[in-house]
Amino acid sequence: MTILLERPDLISALAPGVAPRRHEQAHPPAARRDIVSHPHAPNLEIVGAETLVPLVGGGRVTYANLDHGASAPTLRAVKDTVDRLLGVYASVHRGAGWNSKVCTELYEGAREPVRSFVGGRADDAVIFTRHTTDSLNLLARCLPPRTTVVVFETEHHAALLPWPADRTVRLSAPPGPRQAVESVDHALRRRPPGPALLVITGASNVTGELWPVAELTRIARARGARVALDAAQLAPHRPFSIDELGVDYVALSGHKLYAPYGSGALVGRRDWLEQAPPYLIGGGATASVTDRETTYKPVPDRHEAGSPNVVGAVALATACHLLGCTDRGRLAQAETTLTDTLRQGLAGIPGVTVHSLFGGVVDSIGVVTFTIAGQSPAVVAAALSAEHGIGVRDGAFCAHPLVRHLLGAAGCEVEDGTSGQALRASVGLGTTSEHVTRLVVAVTSIVDRGPRRAYVTVAGRPAPVGDDRVLPSIAPWQR
Ligand code: ALA
Repeated sequence: MTILLERPDLISALAPGVAPRRHEQAHPPAARRDIVSHPHAPNLEIVGAETLVPLVGGGRVTYANLDHGASAPTLRAVKDTVDRLLGVYASVHRGAGWNSKVCTELYEGAREPVRSFVGGRADDAVIFTRHTTDSLNLLARCLPPRTTVVVFETEHHAALLPWPADRTVRLSAPPGPRQAVESVDHALRRRPPGPALLVITGASNVTGELWPVAELTRIARARGARVALDAAQLAPHRPFSIDELGVDYVALSGHKLYAPYGSGALVGRRDWLEQAPPYLIGGGATASVTDRETTYKPVPDRHEAGSPNVVGAVALATACHLLGCTDRGRLAQAETTLTDTLRQGLAGIPGVTVHSLFGGVVDSIGVVTFTIAGQSPAVVAAALSAEHGIGVRDGAFCAHPLVRHLLGAAGCEVEDGTSGQALRASVGLGTTSEHVTRLVVAVTSIVDRGPRRAYVTVAGRPAPVGDDRVLPSIAPWQR
């Protein structure tokens, strides 16, 4: 995002006596800025936006977090809410004490902001899970007998893999949104009798492309199928309403939604969830246990056995509430400006290929996957971190079939038996235009001259030779 305030003073205040930084010498003084708030949403401050990270060989630089697609930083208001909650933390659904009452109320109250954030129907269940993977695995356990699942091979593994292998139709990567709809229509028409579920992503975690959820849902409903929306990537970037779309279930993760306290959610129609055995067996899910019989509660408790994660649920609900109160259209516009600069900047570097499935015909969130001819993504990612203070992800992004498909289509070399590897830069509320510029400048320099250091494999990952960076002690057991 663009920058609200310039605070060069903050850098020296946080790190008094730090020697001139190698990175700063390589970039104009105008780049020494700090984000303290979002220009379109002053309540969306990010914890750690000003964090300095070490560079190999000495010096420190503000961290350019271009890995929001994997895990987003915390909203300050989420942290503040959690900090207040910890002052009264106690058991949920299990205690008569005052603090237990406060926490139970907070936990149950957290369902509504989540339901509202995804535009859920009044009678939709909101089940707190650990993350999107957990939510979709829960849904997979609740499918009625003989349900056919239709899913594209382009999904990330959480949405691709949890379904029963013998009743899943895996569709190949479509070249465009229209072909995606046709492919779903064809698969659903030819399915065996019985219920059906179409599983689709809202936005790809690899290409950032938005999938035609409305059209896919329309065709699925016309063919008598339900729809589960994987909104892990979509939810942090775009508003949507499952009610308006006609989607039956939605899964999302707190750790991608600026609330990394261990909660996600599955929101959707109750009937399948109600009829299924509990996802986990244990206290909280049980209504009564005798020697002869165990009975279980209705949803949501039915699928939330064990002590609930009140901290995670309240954090997630707080993030949903704050984002829901924000002009998300303006946030999306600001993100699109940054993402266009990122995509065009990278695509303009000779030897760099920016990958896309639909060839630029759809809108995208701020996720850009790219490869550099002749360069190892893992080494480039290590160099971006060690030499430039930039965090990106490399590998196949838990979406191996899609990455293999994209690299194959672009004519990139893929070793036999692997998915191939790529680099991914992903933006979010903590991203500044300086982060994007820094990445484009750094990749240009790596393409022109290679990394400044030599890299060797340490514990399975590339590391610069003579790495003198020291990990900070954060936990008491590290001291
Ligand atoms: N969490 C995975 C990602 O980084 C899927 O996109």
